[in-house]
Amino acid sequence: MARKYEGRAVGIDLGTTYSCVAVWLDDHNRVEIIHNDQGNRTTPSVVAFTDYQRLIGNGAENQSATNPENTVFDAKRLIGRKYSDPIVQKDIMLWPFMVTSGVNDKPMITVKYKGQEKQFCAEEISSAVLTKMREIAEAYLGSPVKNVVVTVPAYFNDSQRKATIDAGAIAGLNVIRILNEPTAAAIAYGLDKRSNYDGKRNILVFDLGGGTFDVSILTIKGDVFDVKATAGNTHLGGEDFDNRMVYYFVEEFKKKNKVEISGNPKSLRRLRTACERAKRILSFTFVTTVEVDALFMGIDFSSSITRAKFEEINMDFFNECINIVDSCLRDSKIYKNDIDDVVLVGGSSRIPKVQDLLLEFFKGKALFMNINPDEAIAYGAAVQAAILSEDFKNVPNLVLRDVTPLSLGIATATYWENIMDVVIPRNTSIPVKNTKGYCTAIDNCGASIIVYEGERPRASDNNLLGLFTLSCLPGPRGQPLEVCFSIDENGILTVSGKDITTGILNEITITNEKERLSKFEIEKKIEEAEKYRVEDMKFLRKAKVISALDSCVYNIKSALNMKDVDLILSPQESEQINNAIIVAMNLLEMNKNNQHIEIDVLEHHLKEMNSMLNMLLKIVEDMKFLRKATVMSALDSCVKNITNALNTKDVNLIISPQESEKINNAIFGAMNLLDKNKNNQQINIDVLEHHLKELTNMLKMLLKIVSLFCHIS
Ligand SMILES: Nc1ncnc2c1ncn2[C@@H]1O[C@H](COP(=O)(O)OP(=O)(O)OP(=O)(O)O)[C@@H](O)[C@H]1O
Ligand SMILES: [Mg+2]
Repeated sequence: MARKYEGRAVGIDLGTTYSCVAVWLDDHNRVEIIHNDQGNRTTPSVVAFTDYQRLIGNGAENQSATNPENTVFDAKRLIGRKYSDPIVQKDIMLWPFMVTSGVNDKPMITVKYKGQEKQFCAEEISSAVLTKMREIAEAYLGSPVKNVVVTVPAYFNDSQRKATIDAGAIAGLNVIRILNEPTAAAIAYGLDKRSNYDGKRNILVFDLGGGTFDVSILTIKGDVFDVKATAGNTHLGGEDFDNRMVYYFVEEFKKKNKVEISGNPKSLRRLRTACERAKRILSFTFVTTVEVDALFMGIDFSSSITRAKFEEINMDFFNECINIVDSCLRDSKIYKNDIDDVVLVGGSSRIPKVQDLLLEFFKGKALFMNINPDEAIAYGAAVQAAILSEDFKNVPNLVLRDVTPLSLGIATATYWENIMDVVIPRNTSIPVKNTKGYCTAIDNCGASIIVYEGERPRASDNNLLGLFTLSCLPGPRGQPLEVCFSIDENGILTVSGKDITTGILNEITITNEKERLSKFEIEKKIEEAEKYRVEDMKFLRKAKVISALDSCVYNIKSALNMKDVDLILSPQESEQINNAIIVAMNLLEMNKNNQHIEIDVLEHHLKEMNSMLNMLLKIVEDMKFLRKATVMSALDSCVKNITNALNTKDVNLIISPQESEKINNAIFGAMNLLDKNKNNQQINIDVLEHHLKELTNMLKMLLKIVSLFCHIS
């Protein structure tokens, strides 16, 4: 039985381009996708650094065009990789921010923050995104969140998974489970279908996101979700399609204007944003325009692209997706005709050509598009989080059996050195523990155990996970050894070795290989992350008080401008308020000029000004009340006087029927207003005053008539 965690756990889909957080609501028996402070259900996985603050999410994305060098995205494409990785080298050419090689070939992102150069690893950028997602969840739930389930592409390797757990730790989170994205989507599909289907179903999840592509084939029977095979490419997604379009237009711009924009981060960032938008539009139209004012050297850019052209420049990517589907089916040993549903998830699965190719591959079988492709993964993660948490009674009791995406094995001196000897083949159900026997290859010597993951027969062509030496007692070569590989529910590997001759369990694990952050480094980064979080909060606090002070000054000035307010204030009060306004305006000006002001000073002044504003508002309110009471009483006596005048003998003979009707209507209106006031209904004072003015004029006219009569009689 899985361990249960205290408190409310949430599910986070940490995407290359967008992240999404969701929670299981036990009382309502459903998952809630939580919207961020902008009202959006997904948040850009972007972190920006400026001279004043750090921004995460929409705020970071919104300023990316003006600050591209310090706006970091795509951290998921860097996480768990080495700087020298050819994939990283290729990406670096397209990123506007700087990436250099750090200790042990770890890629480091360099940005300018508060006027100083700072370096961050991908884990720290992802941790900032996770912090934002946690804040979004906490704001919704109104309570702290510590435990999270974070999703990763099924095809993420061991280093990428471990680095994602480290990102969670830096954010101060407890990652209770790393869940594969397509498996999470399958949960969303399964819960959606459960109500109307009981039998066994084979499904293929096609997950094409912003940065990665995954295919998983599962068999769902009742509450048991069995992953049969998974395949993918952790560097294939919407970002690549955008890049192709950017290249296409860079070339066009060069041809038309004879200038090269590829070295200019600002121009590239703006063009990329326009291309991403055009790509989305091409999913429902056949042609669209791409326009960027003053793209480079003041030259405007305007062009168009057809859906056919977009498909042509990305066709190799789309074909690769289908090849991966094919290979996953072969691994699963399930024939394509036996797939009951092809479930589409990930924003890029909306691309019509991708859907067409899938339809063709599955011979016209309808694609399952009933679950939201942007939210399904967070949905599944939230369900898994609830399953692992205490105190959830209504959460479905699902059993998930995932597989390891890559083969794991060793190259030892006992074997021909550079051959990959697989200990756990890919697509083995996890958790799993496999033990294999080996022998020492040299007399009186221990064994070097080098651990790799991957499918290539030559060990060194695969991903090196770590190595260790198993010391043995002196003796001729051929001493028996035992190597044990175990993979936990998160897909994370631990390797241990045992010297059989001595019988001593000489257990060595490789959980801390070189490129991974050490415990000490993680602790240091947790402290730094906390420092940045505190700085962010301080900045926000200051921004809030500045804005409050600005509107307080405005409101006080407006209140002072109201009729007769100055007559009620004493000269001392007036002077005090005017001085406070001058101080506030000075503070606002200093802030505009980036002069340092302590937040406490600002908050203290705001407090003082707020109490002045409250006093003024009370005066205004009292005056309004008085003004209303005066008008009401005047209206009441005016109605009475008009009625008396009308009752004066023969007056009705002098006024015309139209005048009489007008007066009666006015009386009726006034009585209505008086009635409303009695019943505490809201009446605009200007309406009352206007009506009183009209009635007073009528009364004056009537009184003139009455006095004329008196004179005559
Ligand atoms: N209508 C559309 N047509 C084409 N592409 C789209 C459409 N809507 C969204 N996208 C693309 O989908 C991608 C985002 O999808 P999603 O949020 O699933 O990815 P992610 O979770 O950020 O990345 P990943 O899962 O690969 O780490 C972006 O590249 C976006 O441009
Ligand atoms: Mg995703």
